[in-house]
Amino acid sequence: MKNAAVVFNPDCRDCSRLSQFLDTVAEQYPDYHSRPVPAFGAKRPRLLIVGLAPGMHGANATGRPFTGDHAGILLYKVLNEYGFSNKSDSVSLSDGLTLKQCRITNAVKCLPPQNKPTAAEINTCNHYLQAELQQLHQSAIILCLGQVSHKAVIKALGLKQADYKFVHGKQYSVADGKTLIDSYHCSRYNTQTRRLTEAMFRDIFATIRKQLSN
Ligand code: URA
Repeated sequence: MKNAAVVFNPDCRDCSRLSQFLDTVAEQYPDYHSRPVPAFGAKRPRLLIVGLAPGMHGANATGRPFTGDHAGILLYKVLNEYGFSNKSDSVSLSDGLTLKQCRITNAVKCLPPQNKPTAAEINTCNHYLQAELQQLHQSAIILCLGQVSHKAVIKALGLKQADYKFVHGKQYSVADGKTLIDSYHCSRYNTQTRRLTEAMFRDIFATIRKQLSN
């Protein structure tokens, strides 16, 4: 049995494929973080943003979610526009960036090959997310970036997948006073194909900001 209260373990090697991959990447790129990537931001957030997993030359390199990843450019810019941070970009662990009322995590804490964690890896990592969800502000918003993140959050909350379909912009009431909001992931692919435009992403944050100020 995994202890649901453990929010993060920097030495976790529970997924053998992922830890072996990280060992290889660490040899190839000795300056990279190449370990599980911890969440970043406020301890008891009113907004929890859940991504997929660290990117090879981004979060896996820097050790902070979405930092150095293409997806982070838009995310950190929009977070700043809506008052959730003191700076509009995230560069490294020592860049002085702080998040306000907001925390960013990933459904899977370790870099997966080809950016694709397996279903088993998502499930193995899920107890960390479960613990993180227990540390939210009473009326917090959980922003799920993409379907994998959405499903991982639904599982971590102990809810039935069939009752909570992923739909961009959709809101669900979950877990006593909390709200889950779905957005397409702000990945390079989604933004370049315009499945997710900057305007669409800003709309999501405008909704979040409005709800938090109510
Ligand atoms: N970087 C992350 O940390 N998470 C993502 O989902 C994508 C890039």
